[in-house]
Amino acid sequence: MKIIKVKDYAELSETAAKIMSDAVKNNPKITLGLATGGSPVQLYANLVADHKNNGTSYKDVTTYNLDEYIGLDQNHEQSYYTFMRTNLFDHIDIDFNNVHLPKGDTDDHQAEADRYEAMLESTTVDLQLLGIGTNGHIGFNEPGSSFEGVTAVVDLTPETIESNARYFEGNEDLVPTEAISMGIASIMRAKEILLIASGANKQKAVLALVEGDISEDLPASALRNHPNVTLVIDDAAAALLK
Ligand code: PGA
Repeated sequence: MKIIKVKDYAELSETAAKIMSDAVKNNPKITLGLATGGSPVQLYANLVADHKNNGTSYKDVTTYNLDEYIGLDQNHEQSYYTFMRTNLFDHIDIDFNNVHLPKGDTDDHQAEADRYEAMLESTTVDLQLLGIGTNGHIGFNEPGSSFEGVTAVVDLTPETIESNARYFEGNEDLVPTEAISMGIASIMRAKEILLIASGANKQKAVLALVEGDISEDLPASALRNHPNVTLVIDDAAAALLK
């Protein structure tokens, strides 16, 4: 694993955005794996600025998001589809035919997970962006998830629900309890992985990821078995590392 340590969230967002925009410039038909959450917000803003200022084009780029909440319709203000439109897709020249997220509001969630996995299996993600949960989750693969797991209907842990309540009026009761998430095996098929972690609340997860055991108790530790992973972490997130 290559580790790039940066000062703070602003520098993390610049560094990671540069890695992503360079990848798009080098391969205009790239397939990107994308993530939601607080971590990539400024990164995406930097990609939008780069698109506007430097003309980096996404017209031939294809994207697959990691996950979507079950029970929210696509246009719900907290759906990950809305997040991606608000933070990135509505501000770049991407073709919405090339944008993919699992749908959280179908009649048959398992069939939707299978459909999404089949799409992923028929393609190759060139560069997968990841955040990391305070409990070490990637996507919504919570501790205990199998490293062999593919896209599936998953339960959110109480820690994740608590952590995401900030987006739902601070009310844990409003946070969906299930999601459709790419599995760890689906994520590991990406050619290259970029994980970003910022802030003191990620210290323990980052420590376990870099220095702990490779174990299903820490889903992100699967990445240690991947040949091409870059972590961009800021001083606060890296504080417990040797
Ligand atoms: P965050 O979430 O970026 O909102 O901290 C990361 C994650 O849960 O993967």
